This record gives sequence, C-alpha cells and structure tokens, in this order.
Amino acid sequence: MCGIVGGVSKKNIVPVLLDGLNRLEYRGYDSAGIIVLSEDKKFDLIRSVGKVEVLENKLKARKNKIKGNIGIAHTRWATHGEPASHNAHPHVSKNSVSVVHNGIIENYLDLKENQLDQGYKFLSETDTEVIAHEIDLSMRSNNNLISSVQNAVKSLKGSYGLGVISSKYPDQIIATRKGSPLLIGISKNGNYIASDQIALLSLTKKFIFLEEGDIAIVLIDKVTIYDSNGNEVVRPIKSSKLKAGQVDIGSYKHFMQKEIFEQPQAIRDTLESRISFNSVNISAFGDQAKKKFKDIFRVQIIACGTSYNAGLVAKYWIEDIAKIPCNIEVASEYRYRRPILLDKTLFLTISQSGETADTLEALKTAIKINKNILTLSITNTAESSITRLSELNFLTNAGPEIGVASTKAFTTQLVALALLTIALGKSKGNINETQEKDIVNGLKRLPGLITETLQQAKQIKRLAFRFKNKNSALFLGRGTMHAIALEGALKLKEISYIHAEAYAAGELKHGPIALIDENIPVVAIAPNDELLEKLKSNIQEVKSRGSYMIVFEDFGSKVESMPTMEIVPITSNLGRITAPIIFTIPLQLLSYFVAIEKGTNVDKPRNLAKSVTVE
Ligand code: G6P
Repeated sequence: MCGIVGGVSKKNIVPVLLDGLNRLEYRGYDSAGIIVLSEDKKFDLIRSVGKVEVLENKLKARKNKIKGNIGIAHTRWATHGEPASHNAHPHVSKNSVSVVHNGIIENYLDLKENQLDQGYKFLSETDTEVIAHEIDLSMRSNNNLISSVQNAVKSLKGSYGLGVISSKYPDQIIATRKGSPLLIGISKNGNYIASDQIALLSLTKKFIFLEEGDIAIVLIDKVTIYDSNGNEVVRPIKSSKLKAGQVDIGSYKHFMQKEIFEQPQAIRDTLESRISFNSVNISAFGDQAKKKFKDIFRVQIIACGTSYNAGLVAKYWIEDIAKIPCNIEVASEYRYRRPILLDKTLFLTISQSGETADTLEALKTAIKINKNILTLSITNTAESSITRLSELNFLTNAGPEIGVASTKAFTTQLVALALLTIALGKSKGNINETQEKDIVNGLKRLPGLITETLQQAKQIKRLAFRFKNKNSALFLGRGTMHAIALEGALKLKEISYIHAEAYAAGELKHGPIALIDENIPVVAIAPNDELLEKLKSNIQEVKSRGSYMIVFEDFGSKVESMPTMEIVPITSNLGRITAPIIFTIPLQLLSYFVAIEKGTNVDKPRNLAKSVTVE
C-alpha cells in the first residue's frame, strides 16, 4: 500500500526510480511522482494521476529532462485526499524538504493547525504534507537533516515508512520507519531505499532491513543507522534469494495468469526440504518447533483476505486430523476486541506479504495479552515485520506475487498449513505413520495434479461469458469446500467487480435461496467426499429455482446432469488435504477469464492494493 523508492547514485537516478515504481506499482496505482535534486541543488518534481505509465509519458514529453544523482519516488494508494496530482507524493515544504510516505498520520489535523499558525501553506489534502512541514520547522533549530527528521517524527502519531531529501543536504536521503516496511539496498554504484526488495533487484541483492523506529542516513558510499533511542546500531546486510527475472511477466498476458500457472513449481518449492521420504520435518517451522508443539493445546489463527480463507481450511484440518481445537478470526476484528488468550496457545498469523497492518497489530496485541503464547507466522516474505515478530516462522517460498488477487500464495499457504497439521498432530501423538505417509504422498502429487487441472483452462474459459452481464453470483461448498467457495467468490469480486457470495451449502435454505433466479449463476464445488450426497440435494434445490449452474466435480462424484448446468470434472481420488487445493484452481481460472471477458484490469483491480499496510 503505497510504494517508496529512492537512491543516491553515481549515475542519473531517474531510470532507477522509474524502474522501481513500475515494480512497486502493485502497492498502489492511483498516482505517482518523482523528485530529484538537480545539479544546481534545486528540486525538480513531476507527478501525475493514474498509473506509472502516465508519469513515464509525462517525463518523455518534457523538454528539459529531469536528471540528478539523488531522488525519491512514490506510487500512491489514496487514503487522505482523492487521487489527484496535487495529492500525489513527493510533497515539498518551502523548497527545502521533500518526503515520500507510506502509512497514515492520525494526528495530521492537529499538526496542520499549528503549522498554519507558523505560516505554512498547504497544497494538498494529504496527511503526508504535515511531515514535510514538520521537518522543515524542525530544521529552523537543528543544524542537520537527520536530527530534524528524528525530532519531527516524535510528533507523529500513526505509521510511516519515510524517504526524505533536502536541498540543503544534497548528498543524503534520510529513511525511517514505524509500522510500515522500509529497507536499504547496498551497491557499488550507490545506496537505495524501497518499501520492497523487488524494486531494487536489478541493482543489488544486498539489503538492510530497518527495524521498527530505526532511522538511517543514506549516502552514496555509506549508510549509518540509529535505533529508536538514537543509538548508532549495525544492522546485518542480508543477501536476497530473489531473482530480478522472477518479477518479470515473461510470455504471459497478466501476472495473475503467470502466477496461476506457476503453482506446480511454487508448491514444489514450498515442499522442498520440508519433507523427507514419507514424513514432515517439524524443524521446518523452526529449531524449537518440535519441543514447543508438544505443549500446544489450542490454535488461534489470525489473517486477512485470501490468507484468512487459507486459515479457514486449516481450521478443519487441525481439528479433524491433528485433533487440536482451532479458532480463526479476521485480524481487523481481533485486534480491537479483548480476546481471551490462554497459555499453551499456538498463535498463528498467515500473511503473504507479512506486512498487513491489521495482522501485524493483532499479533502485537496477542503478545501483549499473554506472553506465554507460542507465535508462528506463515508468510511469503522473508524479513517481513510479521516474520520478525514471530517466534517460529515458515516461508511459503512461492516467489514474488505481483497480481493483486492472490493465487499461488494461497495454494502454497494451504501446503504450509497441511505440513503444520501433520507437524502438530505428530508432536501431540495424534497422527500415526500411515496417516502421515498418506498425506505426504498426497502433497507430493500436487504439482502433477495441478498441471493436469490447468489443462482444463480452455474449457473453463468457455464458461466465462455466462458471468459477463451478471451482477451477482453464488458459490456453494461444504466442509473445506466452503472455505474454497469463499476464496472463489473473493477472486470473482476482486477482479471482475461482480458481487459474489459464498455460502456453506447447508445454509442455503436459511436465506440465500431467496436470491436465486436465472440472473444469478451458481458455482458448486462437489468433491467425492462424505458430504457429497448432502451437497447433491443442495444442488437440486438451486436447480429447481432456475439458475444457471457450474459444478466442479470429482470424476467419481457423478452429479446428475440437468439443463443449463455445466458439470466440469476436475480430477479423481483426492484426499482431505489435496481436494481443497486442487478445487481452488478452476475457481482461479474462472474468475481470471470472467475478468478478461469484462475487460477489467486483472492485475491491478480498482480500489485494491496488494499489501495493505494501513488500517
Ligand atoms: C489485500 C490483498 C489480498 C490479500 C490481503 C491479505 O487485501 O489484496 O490479496 O489476501 O490483503 O494480505 P496478506 O499479505 O496479509 O496475505
């Protein structure tokens, strides 16, 4: 949510900023801007509404080219102030200070009042502009930029990742963070800042991940970091395992399409070194996991969006297979109530980005409530805030996910959760070797099964036009398939803007059946499991009310064919663990093709952002 990139370089920084903005665009795409200090130490600012492409065209059209060795840039997801050029970052105070900001300043109105009294003029409706003025105000009594920023941030309430430059200090960027991610990229040609390493991968693989409250002076050949108490600290330089090519679209039309088709490999990478022969390595969750899982009596899962849906599937598995009580709640609710957290709870956060503000805050809340809980995170991002705050960690290794609608992150989360179910069940003595072997073998089959399922893309594409002119759709499933139905409905609404609801099929008669007519297509997920006969009755109930239906079934399910019903056999002989993962694939493909039919922006759907680092 909002992307920051900046750098001090031996070369012109503008191409670096543009490339970084393009790679960060998944974080926000309603406006973008760049500011550099030109040779004569003056600010040169350019901003535009819309995608980074618009900014690029504006830059190309300019006669006097924007150029400089130091600069900061931003791609915005609006919170305060509509998407407009004057609200786009960078913001400037008195031609002296410029800032880019990711986060929200809650007390900006109070600060603004004081700054207006001091004679500052406001050119935007953002909460960010006050930061620039606050730093400028502080520079009146401070003789260096870093102490002015240190001073200014003391008056901020809220969250921030900040990049600051000043025409009075033309050799440096000040970078600081609290509640929003920020890292520093180190290279021979200069040093850089960014919200996400993928912005800088073409320049460097070496990163310093700033800790909460850190502030850094970034010079061309040196980086100095101070912690929140103002003490100079050394933070380790870490080597990224990501490759620049992983964030390129290759021969695909959309990142979402690429990421759907990458799932077999992503799952192989998630399983790699986490299983040996027929068993799960419990140490995949951390060196202490084996010892600590033995003492666990309950699991509390917290997540948002797609990650929450993965957690819903896991609730079934953890109770059914590992025999441990398990609760799940969305982070935005959990963090604001007063939950009871007993000792011996495994507090599990699931987050692709590892930066979702609500999930992170829920984790902090949980740690405050009870220090004796065991925290475990399942994320796709090494060094994320959630990863660093958790005692135990599991990285899904799905590779960067750029499409805003999550696909491979979801299925790899499910694989991680399947491994966790076994690890917990084994540690508690609730799973025997045969059960473990069966599940592990099922997991090993997944890449092949997904590859086969993906071959049905053409058939699923054919069904997409049925949704084109519809305003609503209903997804039905039972057991874990209810969670998969929720994920299918979420995908459809995210990228095709069709209102979609998912219901546990047994609940149909308690309300949603009233909605059903020929204008509401219904998608049912029908694996050949112990609930199949019940689901078949629900399918009959829907069908007799005249809607168009798609049923994704197991070959063995043998759902009775009826007029205006498409039955799409997906696979056969799936187990409790493999079935929800496999049945996710046709739903991803369906929403993808519906979005193509509707001509929406598949990778950057309106109003959404990939990583929601504000409340
Ligand atoms: C946003 C994204 C979703 C994602 C959710 C949670 O809403 O658009 O795709 O599922 O955040 O993100 P996380 O990174 O915590 O999994």
